[in-house]
Amino acid sequence: MSALEVSGIVRAFPVRSGLFARPKLLRAVENASFVLPRGGTFGLVGESGSGKSTIAKIILGADEPTRGSVRFGERVFGRSPRDADRRWRQRAVQAVLQDPFGSLDPQMSIGDIVLEPLRIQKSGFVRDALHRRLDELLAQVGLPAEFKRRRPGELSGGQRQRVAIARALVLEPEILVLDEPVSALDVSIQAQVLNLLKDLQDALGLSYLLISHDLAVVAFMSSHIGVLYLGRFMEQGTRDDIVVRAAHPYTHALIAASEPEAHGVQAIGGEIASPLAPPAGCVFHARCPAARELCRSVAPPEQHLSATHRVTCHFPLTSKA
Ligand SMILES: Nc1ncnc2c1ncn2[C@@H]1O[C@H](COP(=O)(O)OP(=O)(O)OP(=O)(O)O)[C@@H](O)[C@H]1O
Ligand code: SF4
Ligand SMILES: [Mg+2]
Repeated sequence: MSALEVSGIVRAFPVRSGLFARPKLLRAVENASFVLPRGGTFGLVGESGSGKSTIAKIILGADEPTRGSVRFGERVFGRSPRDADRRWRQRAVQAVLQDPFGSLDPQMSIGDIVLEPLRIQKSGFVRDALHRRLDELLAQVGLPAEFKRRRPGELSGGQRQRVAIARALVLEPEILVLDEPVSALDVSIQAQVLNLLKDLQDALGLSYLLISHDLAVVAFMSSHIGVLYLGRFMEQGTRDDIVVRAAHPYTHALIAASEPEAHGVQAIGGEIASPLAPPAGCVFHARCPAARELCRSVAPPEQHLSATHRVTCHFPLTSKA
């Protein structure tokens, strides 16, 4: 059973390059479809500007797609969702974002920050019950109870991200959208926060949409992975389809760059093209080491390599399978 099904999402932003210029359409997401299985983690990986946060905002209801739909079980969010479904989503789908400092009000105590969504949704909560819930949440994210009286400025980056996770859990959500949840943290702290997220997923039966530019983070966490480039899925499948049986030249480049001996080398030469002027043919052709003549003029269709594995390439690299 799926927690979330995204079907044919397009998001085009009208943008002007100058005061008198005619608006152009920036196509940030182009026909994206994927399924997040219940209790699983779908990892979205791609370079800066590939459309990851745009997809996250649409799933959270902070933005609307130009076309396509988002479905959570029986609840379908198209152009004008029902009020009852909107209210359900405000509770059941929560976010943890990259910057734990920017997203926490520095004047508020940790206790007030964590409980704020509950106070907004359900007034009339008994004070004792609120405090019991707060202590339970702090324990769940591995923070001592006395932290509730502190302010965000007194906490480390990792502790602040634990606070953000506790706040995301207070309404007992079903899905967490994790947009670069560890990329602002020291590498030594990243694994602790990722392990906490895994433990919470097992304990609470949560489903995660995890966004990262770092394939190592996505591979560690995800049951399913989608590789985005210029708003399009280049490849998607189970974790092993992508990590062990990668078929797309771009995925191969991401894997090569994430290997320890690569020492942070750039995934692939050249710059990502502008989504205002996407290249003809395969959008990746100017950077692809496997490009042939056909790739310059004809956009590759998405092909199924197996029941779970899909790739958008004329010449997928399947020999290593
Ligand atoms: N409100 C907006 N108006 C116009 N263009 C936008 C808007 N939001 C996003 N974009 C553009 O859409 C594209 C995708 O942006 P998005 O933020 O989804 O990328 P991302 O993959 O999350 O990148 P990053 O890794 O840097 O966070 C970019 O070209 C961005 O400039
Ligand atoms: S379609 Fe051609 S250019 Fe695009 S990824 Fe495949 S081989 Fe490379
Ligand atoms: Mg982003």
